[in-house]
Amino acid sequence: MIGNAKIALLSEDLNITEKVVQHMQAVGLTVDNVIENPTEVYRIGSDVPTIVLLVEPTGSVTLEDLCNALREGNRQVAIILLLKNINFSVMRDAVKIGVVDVLRLPDEITMLEKAVRDGLRSLNKDQRKHTQSKSGLSSSGGKVISFYSVKGGCGKTFLAANVAQAIRLSTDKRVLLIDLCLQFGGVQRMLNLQGQRSIADLDPVIHELDESHINNILFTLEHSGLNVLLGPAKPDIAELLTDHHIELLLSACRRYFDYIILDLPAELNKVSITALNESDQIIYIVTPDSPALFGLKAAMDFFERYGLIEGDKFKILVNKVSKKSDLTTKDIEKITGIPILAGIRSDYKAIKNAVNTGKPLLEKPKERVWNGVAKDVVKLSKQLVG
Ligand SMILES: Nc1ncnc2c1ncn2[C@@H]1O[C@H](COP(=O)(O)OP(=O)(O)O)[C@@H](O)[C@H]1O
Ligand SMILES: [Mg+2]
Repeated sequence: MIGNAKIALLSEDLNITEKVVQHMQAVGLTVDNVIENPTEVYRIGSDVPTIVLLVEPTGSVTLEDLCNALREGNRQVAIILLLKNINFSVMRDAVKIGVVDVLRLPDEITMLEKAVRDGLRSLNKDQRKHTQSKSGLSSSGGKVISFYSVKGGCGKTFLAANVAQAIRLSTDKRVLLIDLCLQFGGVQRMLNLQGQRSIADLDPVIHELDESHINNILFTLEHSGLNVLLGPAKPDIAELLTDHHIELLLSACRRYFDYIILDLPAELNKVSITALNESDQIIYIVTPDSPALFGLKAAMDFFERYGLIEGDKFKILVNKVSKKSDLTTKDIEKITGIPILAGIRSDYKAIKNAVNTGKPLLEKPKERVWNGVAKDVVKLSKQLVG
């Protein structure tokens, strides 16, 4: 038992059963129910929220069937998958069918306690959502917009930073840009920010984040008032930040900001997938060339499996559009079958000029008429804030 939830172990492998039960006892948790036969999932019951430790089935019952049967039997289940050998495609399937965590046994048995506690949190969160939707409340707060692409160098950081500036300049809303390229950063260089503070400093207070904690580590740009949170930009420290940190951070930021713009790394890891899941809007960036389109195709397969293309959430944007490109925006629309949100012209000169003079690409609108790439960025920002 943990909190208000029971713990069930579904395992055909006696060796694993023994190890898990012993380990759970050692960390002060009790497995309430051990089920050896996958056809007996009904024994879990439907009355109590349950965390199910599910060892990957070996027989004819598939993982998906088992998860569905578990969920049909009890709407309040959090499933943690335990694998003997981990592989990316099983992990992807697992997340797609709603598994809350995947651990490799026996190597990752020490992470079981944390996974169970996270499972309990996700059960409670589901319950809250359910009550909120029943009472007509929405999970209100700021809007999270992500800039993403599997390809590096296509303009994720450039667009996240400049769209955030443009929204701030044209709306005067509270806008926060977060650099989630945790390992190496990018925003700091792009915006020429000096200082060491980063979201890693929030670790000790991550469960009780309030506005003052966030304000303590914020950078605020003088000319626009845009707020920026940087990542640690150190791989060893970045490793300490988990998907759970990102979930808690975004949930707190939604309370204090109107728009939260995320710059993401090309890599799909637990942090970036969590950020994409939490986003209200994902802007997928392609450049008008074949390699970028191959990347988009692979990403779309992946996103579909994760349910990230549902509704209006996923949009494609073409960056670095020029007359010399292999493909036009229309071509890309035809190939993908998805309407393109916007095209942003290629404008090396303006960007180089901004870098060389140390002047931001976007300044206060009254002082300047927008030209070139800045004009496209401002137009895009208006589309995004509606
Ligand atoms: N529309 C554009 N026109 C010209 N250069 C661009 C444009 N968008 C981005 N760039 C430049 O391309 C380079 C890579 O952009 P960046 O935002 O760092 O890519 P990513 O974050 O996807 O790796 C940077 O030097 C950036 O200034
Ligand atoms: Mg980048």
